[in-house]
Amino acid sequence: MKVTLIAAVTIDGFIARDDVHLSTRWTSKEDTRFFRRLSAKVGHMVVGSKTFKTFDRKMAGRKIYVYSHKQTVENSSENDIEVVSASPKKFITDLESRGVAEVLICGGSSIYTLFMKAGVVDRLLLTQESTIFGAGVPLFSEPLKTKVSLDIIHNLSDQTKVFEYEVMK
Ligand SMILES: NC(=O)c1ccc[n+]([C@@H]2O[C@H](COP(=O)([O-])OP(=O)(O)OC[C@H]3O[C@@H](n4cnc5c(N)ncnc54)[C@H](OP(=O)(O)O)[C@@H]3O)[C@@H](O)[C@H]2O)c1
Repeated sequence: MKVTLIAAVTIDGFIARDDVHLSTRWTSKEDTRFFRRLSAKVGHMVVGSKTFKTFDRKMAGRKIYVYSHKQTVENSSENDIEVVSASPKKFITDLESRGVAEVLICGGSSIYTLFMKAGVVDRLLLTQESTIFGAGVPLFSEPLKTKVSLDIIHNLSDQTKVFEYEVMK
């Protein structure tokens, strides 16, 4: 079972200006295409309830696991969702037992931090967009001591690169 964290990041380390800022409003069309292709291929995505609220369309062919402390979340685009609150380790073990081969951890900051702190992430795919916010929602929001090794740089365009890192365990 492979656990991949995927995020688009400004050069100063932010993933949004605030917690209702939709990613596709500021990321490149190349990154949107990269994310859509990979999420369709993998088919399993984890998001926090705030990020899920920013989704304004149906993500056909993807199962979306929405982290929330509530029993249900509003699902106006009628996505295929499951509301979860289990620890990352328990959640990943459960997916494994259901035969899931890979899952994408799709944010936001609280979910990236939760999964990194739990030590369950194998790979990071960080799209660096050529923009600066100066302030906003950081990629991670708590101290971490994770070591990573740069594997591949995917060249999406002159201005947009995806840095693929392996998490050292
Ligand atoms: N650039 C990118 O690649 C990218 C990717 C994803 C998101 N984003 C952006 O990130 C921002 C949102 O990030 P965020 O950190 O503020 O919010 P978030 O991680 O999307 O969602 C936070 C919510 O997740 C739930 N949650 C968190 N930890 C939990 C736990 N241990 N158990 C159960 N539920 C838990 C809680 O939901 P309840 O309040 O319902 O209990 C919490 O309010 C948005 O602007 C979004 O667009 C950017």
